Amino acid sequence: MYSDKVKDHFYNPRNVGEIDNADGIGKAGNPKCGDIMKMYIKVKDGVITDVKFKTFGCGAAVATSSMTTELIKGKTLKEALALNNNDVVQKLGGLPPQKIHCSVLAKETIESAIKDYCLKNNLAFPPA
Ligand code: FES
Repeated sequence: MYSDKVKDHFYNPRNVGEIDNADGIGKAGNPKCGDIMKMYIKVKDGVITDVKFKTFGCGAAVATSSMTTELIKGKTLKEALALNNNDVVQKLGGLPPQKIHCSVLAKETIESAIKDYCLKNNLAFPPA
């Protein structure tokens, strides 16, 4: 049912945890299942230098969040916002159709963290 990549990111998730003094904190919930995710970002000169996440979610949510954090670290805020949940799913070698909705949670959470960063720094959202 799950690809080896999904299993790897589920059993060994990257970037799990919190960041003290995060520059932005995002939270999102999946209305279909009630699962919740939080992400913390550090930003320097418009680039995401660190990101961590915590989730009360299923295996697919953990795997997509883990892959998302790997993909956005070192990226600009704009590049991170442009990341599509389908790109993340592809990088993981696919997800069963009934699990695609789980991949949206990571995207919404990172968007929320970037929005929080922009608000705290009086920057327009989405950033130019
Ligand atoms: Fe809730 Fe996957 S079942 S995020």
